[in-house]
Amino acid sequence: MTTPLPSSAVLGARAFATLAGLNRFSDEPGKLTRLYLSPSHRQGAEYVKGAMEVAGLTAFIDAAGSVQGRREGRAPGLPAVMIGSHIDTVRDGGRFDGNLGVVAGILAAQAIRDAGIALPFALEVIAFGDEETVRFPTSLSTAAALTGRYDQGWLGVRDADGVMLRDALTAFGGDPAGIAALARKPGSVKAYLELHIEQGPVLEAESEAVGIVTAIAAQGRAGVRVTGEAGHAGTVPMSLRKDALAAAAEMALALEAIAGEHESAVGTVGVFRPDPGATNVVPGAVDFTIDYRAPKGATVASMDVEIQKRFGEIAARRGVGVTITHYSRGDAVPMDEGLQEALANGIARTGSNLTARRLASGAGHDAMEMARLCPSAMLFVRCEKGISHSPLENMTELDAGIAIRVLIETILELARREG
Ligand code: GLV
Ligand code: MN
Ligand code: MN
Repeated sequence: MTTPLPSSAVLGARAFATLAGLNRFSDEPGKLTRLYLSPSHRQGAEYVKGAMEVAGLTAFIDAAGSVQGRREGRAPGLPAVMIGSHIDTVRDGGRFDGNLGVVAGILAAQAIRDAGIALPFALEVIAFGDEETVRFPTSLSTAAALTGRYDQGWLGVRDADGVMLRDALTAFGGDPAGIAALARKPGSVKAYLELHIEQGPVLEAESEAVGIVTAIAAQGRAGVRVTGEAGHAGTVPMSLRKDALAAAAEMALALEAIAGEHESAVGTVGVFRPDPGATNVVPGAVDFTIDYRAPKGATVASMDVEIQKRFGEIAARRGVGVTITHYSRGDAVPMDEGLQEALANGIARTGSNLTARRLASGAGHDAMEMARLCPSAMLFVRCEKGISHSPLENMTELDAGIAIRVLIETILELARREG
C-alpha cells in the first residue's frame, strides 16, 4: 500500500516530534549540549539510527561517529543523492541547528518510501558528528572522512580535559583505523543537499519561509597561546610584569578592530583560558581561540596577515610570547548552480506563495566540505529573530514542514532529470 506525500503540516509535526526525541540526549541536564563523541552523542546517534531504520534506510554508525543510512534506488549500488547535517551542538545550544537537517533527511526518505516511489539513484541520509568544533580543534572532521581529506593528525588532538580524540573515538565505539576506508569514490555521491535553519534574520525580515544558499563564507580559525610570566599579584610591580592575560586581551581587541576594518567581516574570541587562573596570580599563560570570516577568501587572507602582524607587535611590546596555530582555513565555497536550480524548482512545486530567495551563509556547514566531493547545495529555513547557538533558537513547526516538503520535491526533481 502506498500513501500520498504528506502535507507540510504533517511533516512539520513529525519533525518536531522526532527532534524532541533526539534532543532528550544532552551532556548537561536542563541544557542542550551534545559534544562530539560524548555519551549523549552516542545516545543521539543510536536514536538517529533507529529513526533511519523506521524510515526504511539501512543504517549504521560509522568509524568516525557519523550515522549513515541508505535506501537503494531502482537497482542496487547506484550513485547516491545524500541528505545530511550534524547532530553535535555547541554548549547550551539550540534544538534545530544541524538536528533539523538530519531529521528532514530521514522524514523525506520515509515519505518517498511510503509513497512507493523508486528513485533512479540511491538515497542516503547522514548525521555528521563533528561540525561545531567545540570539543576538539578539528575542522568538519566527520565530513572530511567522507571526502577523503581526514587529517590523521586530528586523532592526536586533545580536548580541554586532555582527552585525546583517538581515545574518545574508541570509547565512543568508533574505529580510528577505519576512518580512511570511509572516503567515498568520486562519482559515488552525485549530490549533497543540506537543509538548515538560516541562523540569521534575512528570511524572517522578508517573510520568506525558505531560501537557497548561494555560497558559504570564507573563514579562519586558530588557537592562540600567549606565554608571559606568572607572579604574585601583590608583589610584582606593574613595570616588571609580563601579564599574559593583559596581552591576550589586547589581541582580542585587535581582532575586533581588524574585523571592523573589512566590509562584512566578523571576528570572535569565543574561548579564553588563563593559566593558572587564580585571583592572586599574574596570569603566566593564556589560551584563546580566534574565529574570523568574510564573504571573500581574499579578505580572510588579508585578515590572516594583519592578525599575525598585530598580535606579534603586541607580544613584542609586552615582552610575552605568542603562537598562533591554525586549525581551519577555508575559502568561500560556492554552492552548485544546477542544484540551486533544482531547489528553486522544488520550492515552486511546494507552494505558489514561496519564492526562491537566494542568500549567502555566514555560518559554516558540512556542505563546505562535501562540496569537495560532489555538487552540493543548501536550503535555509526561517528561524526566529535569526538567533542560534543559543537555547533561544526557535522556528515554527510549519516552516520546518514546508522546508521538508521542498526537500522532497527537490529529490523528485533530481529524479525527473534522470528520466
Ligand atoms: C558553525 O556553526 C559555525 O561556526 O559556523
Ligand atoms: Mn549547523
Ligand atoms: Mn552551529
